[in-house]
Amino acid sequence: MKVKIVFYSMYGHVYRMAEAVAEGVREVKGAEVELLQVPELVPDGVLEKSGARKAREAFAHIPVAKPDDLADADAIIFGAPTRFGNMCGQMRNFLDQTGGLWAQNALVGKVGSVFTSTGTQHGGQETTITSFHTTLLHHGMVIVGLPYTETRQFTLDEISGGSPYGATTIAAPDGSRMPSENELGMARFQGRHVATIAKKLVGA
Ligand SMILES: Cc1cc2nc3c(=O)[nH]c(=O)nc-3n(C[C@H](O)[C@H](O)[C@H](O)COP(=O)(O)O)c2cc1C
Repeated sequence: MKVKIVFYSMYGHVYRMAEAVAEGVREVKGAEVELLQVPELVPDGVLEKSGARKAREAFAHIPVAKPDDLADADAIIFGAPTRFGNMCGQMRNFLDQTGGLWAQNALVGKVGSVFTSTGTQHGGQETTITSFHTTLLHHGMVIVGLPYTETRQFTLDEISGGSPYGATTIAAPDGSRMPSENELGMARFQGRHVATIAKKLVGA
């Protein structure tokens, strides 16, 4: 049973969450996990000025996804940072190249799940994930979120991302906050939960 984690990250927060999601997937017996990143669209000079080029070196070893890579997965967990309350353009652009897969019903019945990162606490984590779900539903995917059996999302004694829609982190407006243990725990849970459900659907 194959789980693919397809993400975009500019400064590394979504990548850190993706690693934790992958750890969760690996806890499920028989689950194979592959991390892939979608192609960058921002020109090098702009990445350099914003400090993103340096940050992106940390995950430059992760292979770049092609739309057809999605076809042989049993579950796909997508990670994308928020841009104005929606997924980033790099991920949108990637998904907009999956029309061929859609025409062949290639993703119908696969598990789909989403996690995200925002700069601010109420900057659009939930809208980013639920609007992402619309695309997955057009593909006929079976949406899986983060059930309240993951009790870390009840946490009120510290600032924390995470909701029934999926794991999230809050990067801070200057990107200085990395995912907390609580948030990474939710990311691991999401990976494990998706893999467990995919395993049942595949019947393996
Ligand atoms: C153009 C742009 C728009 C953004 N819009 C939002 C937003 O609506 N809400 C928010 O909280 N953060 C917003 N951010 C901050 C990013 O979501 C944040 O940098 C990102 O989650 C960090 O994850 P990464 O390190 O994986 O790229 C925006 C950033 C950029 C560059």
